[in-house]
Amino acid sequence: MRKITVSGKDEYEILIKSGILGSCGEHIRKVTSASRALIISDTNVFPIYGQTVVASLEQNGFKVASHIFPAGEASKNLATVEGMIKALCENELSRNDIVVALGGGVTGDMAGFASAIYLRGINFVGIPTTLLSQVDSSVGGKTGCDLTFGKNLIGAFHNPKLVLIDPETIKTLPTRYKNDGMGEIVKYALIKSEELYNTLLNCKNIDDILTDVIYTCVDIKRQVVENDFTEKGERMLLNFGHTLAHAIEKYENFCGLAHGEAVGVGMLCITKTSEKCGETEVGTAEKIEKLLNKFSLPTTFSGKTEELVNIMLYDKKRRGDSINLVLCEKVGKSYVKPFPISKLGSFFVEGK
Ligand SMILES: NC(=O)c1ccc[n+]([C@@H]2O[C@H](COP(=O)([O-])OP(=O)(O)OC[C@H]3O[C@@H](n4cnc5c(N)ncnc54)[C@H](O)[C@@H]3O)[C@@H](O)[C@H]2O)c1
Ligand SMILES: [Zn+2]
Repeated sequence: MRKITVSGKDEYEILIKSGILGSCGEHIRKVTSASRALIISDTNVFPIYGQTVVASLEQNGFKVASHIFPAGEASKNLATVEGMIKALCENELSRNDIVVALGGGVTGDMAGFASAIYLRGINFVGIPTTLLSQVDSSVGGKTGCDLTFGKNLIGAFHNPKLVLIDPETIKTLPTRYKNDGMGEIVKYALIKSEELYNTLLNCKNIDDILTDVIYTCVDIKRQVVENDFTEKGERMLLNFGHTLAHAIEKYENFCGLAHGEAVGVGMLCITKTSEKCGETEVGTAEKIEKLLNKFSLPTTFSGKTEELVNIMLYDKKRRGDSINLVLCEKVGKSYVKPFPISKLGSFFVEGK
């Protein structure tokens, strides 16, 4: 078993092990004296893994209930969060009880948010089942949901009590979502680790090294969130590619490109432009495109520039008339650059 401890105000462990789902109750029991557990999951994940988790929790003395919502980003809204809160009330969860978020990033973000605001905060455990959620969203305590104005515009920082990563769950993940997770993995390589970039580029079969890659990415995220939990500085680097990605996702009403796919496109687009502006080592965009192609990720997007820019005005990285853009200096190195909002359109059009 691999273990990563995220230090800080609410220290927690991330355990990575094939098959850990079957003993999740045992691990969760070690971090809580809760009598009740509410599993929050979606309509795709619960039928596959729900019973394993229920059984393990019951074996470890929890009174278990579950709440299932319709799978997909289109569900990531306040109405779904309200449904979760109602389920918490109906099942009489008290302050020392626990929520178990079983699913991808959509489940984890919303179940974490419901846990953050129910009774002003109860504990939750993350059991991420997509590659994207295992390497990214389950770590770092960002929870929330989308608003009609844009993505992830409401939320709270609320750390999990424990995260259990079972790489076996990736086997049932549709190929599209496995590739989607690779979008965020490529991001880690570009912002922080040339070594990871080379590993990804040279590997014959990603499945052979997936557990190691998950560990590497989680550890990069651990370092970043330990240094800057509330995203005042270094944590912004994790948003590489995200300004355009979030705009595309919203533009397509969260029914088009998936998050990691959009991030890939966003990273490539901004790097094409930053390379032309002399901010990025020449050849970097080509290196990005190579990896995106390798993992069958899209490299182009559609959408009217004006509308995309209008959406970007609501980006959380905006500060008055400027926006903090994350740029890649070269593979493995990135930085934040404040950029005037008024020039955003031309900046992204360049890279299209
Ligand atoms: N909180 C953060 O720091 C953070 C970071 C990155 C992304 N996110 C958020 O994460 C979300 C994307 O997460 P996601 O890609 O996991 O989306 P998701 O939760 O919608 O999962 C993708 C699809 O895979 C299905 N699925 C999940 N696990 C499965 C499995 N093991 N087998 C079969 N099907 C499975 C889901 O039902 C869904 O249809 C976005 O909303 C994004 O904003 C948050
Ligand atoms: Zn992301």
